Amino acid sequence: MTQASNASKSVTVDLGHRSYDIIIGDNLLSQAGALIEPHLQACRTAIVTDENVYALHGKAIETALSAYEKYMIVLPVGESQKSFEGLQSVLDKLFEAGFDRNDTIVAFGGGVIGDLTGFAASIYKRGCQFIQIPTTLLAQVDSSVGGKTAINNKYGKNLIGAFYQPQLVIADTSVLKTLPVRELKAGYAEVLKYGLLGDRAFFDWLDENGADVLTLKPEAIAQAVAISCQTKARIVAADERERGERALLNLGHTFAHALELEAGYSGDLLHGEAVSAGMEMAFEFSALQGHCVLDDVNTLKKHLDKTGLTSINDVAHLLKNSDALIDHMNQDKKNEGGNLTLILAKSIGESFVQRGASRSKAHAYLKTLSEKVNSK
Ligand code: NAD
Ligand code: GLY
Repeated sequence: MTQASNASKSVTVDLGHRSYDIIIGDNLLSQAGALIEPHLQACRTAIVTDENVYALHGKAIETALSAYEKYMIVLPVGESQKSFEGLQSVLDKLFEAGFDRNDTIVAFGGGVIGDLTGFAASIYKRGCQFIQIPTTLLAQVDSSVGGKTAINNKYGKNLIGAFYQPQLVIADTSVLKTLPVRELKAGYAEVLKYGLLGDRAFFDWLDENGADVLTLKPEAIAQAVAISCQTKARIVAADERERGERALLNLGHTFAHALELEAGYSGDLLHGEAVSAGMEMAFEFSALQGHCVLDDVNTLKKHLDKTGLTSINDVAHLLKNSDALIDHMNQDKKNEGGNLTLILAKSIGESFVQRGASRSKAHAYLKTLSEKVNSK
């Protein structure tokens, strides 16, 4: 990590000629024009955003990019945009505006906008310039970094997409001030993930400073985003296509995806909320299998409690049908040869990929957990 200026930090995702920087700091939006200038091959930009972000920050981005010919594409809010219809609508607008591949598409929004826009950029005229300006905490620490782009279809989430890296990521932590607290906490779960999966010191720092991160104290939030991006950048540089270590970024996600499916991908359970409870489940299951000690599980539970994050108890209603949950887990993309692949923990700060994990043991854990939390 380097100090990009007095006020900002910079993390590089090292991918040879496709390397790029993530610039992190306060009030970066106003400098977006100067920051993207070295990456432009032509003067035209298309800014893809959603109605919420446009209402709150549209003027700021338009002003910042006033030197360039701009084309705003403002989409309805929500996961449903990550669909063939949403993709078609973005591509149609690019064709209508006569964009060519030297023009630059900017994703300005949360993970939905980033994933959809990145995929559109990867296929528009076989690939064009692409920059991410993420506006949710989840997008700043996770989805805008690493090049996973995708839409959903009737078979599941993120099943159609491409690995397509951006040329630059600008994470302006001051735009997070308008984010609802619930979304902020959902994003914080992904921050916590980096501590749990490989960095005990970062977990300890979060345990001390979590409240400052969640109240967006400038230094604390910038540090949390920078350390998260640094960890993700290192993992992506080592394993861009998720053949090995990148799978660790899915800590808690197999349980989480089952909970999300059970909730019907409704607004009742945000992805980060499911990840928060899913990580607790991964730690509990790890302890049951003898991989980590109960102390680690209790330390995590205390952290979730004191930061007000979603815990297993908050999703008790979704745990009622353990048969359905294990069926959902059987559909996970990471599974191989009909066996479960789970990301489990040896301790706080050390996780590992367990291929061929026992389905019957996972099922038994879910059944016992369901009985326990629903008998209260
Ligand atoms: P989102 O994009 O739906 O944004 C959440 C909500 O916050 C939306 O209502 C949005 O309009 C609003 N919003 C965005 N920025 C705001 C701001 N600054 N102020 C106020 N409101 C704001 O959801 P998300 O949580 O950012 O992303 C979830 C998506 O990310 C999912 O589709 C998930 O699959 C994807 N994802 C992708 C990766 C990846 O590696 N590509 C990783 C994790 C998640
Ligand atoms: N969010 C998981 C990954 O990028 O691999």
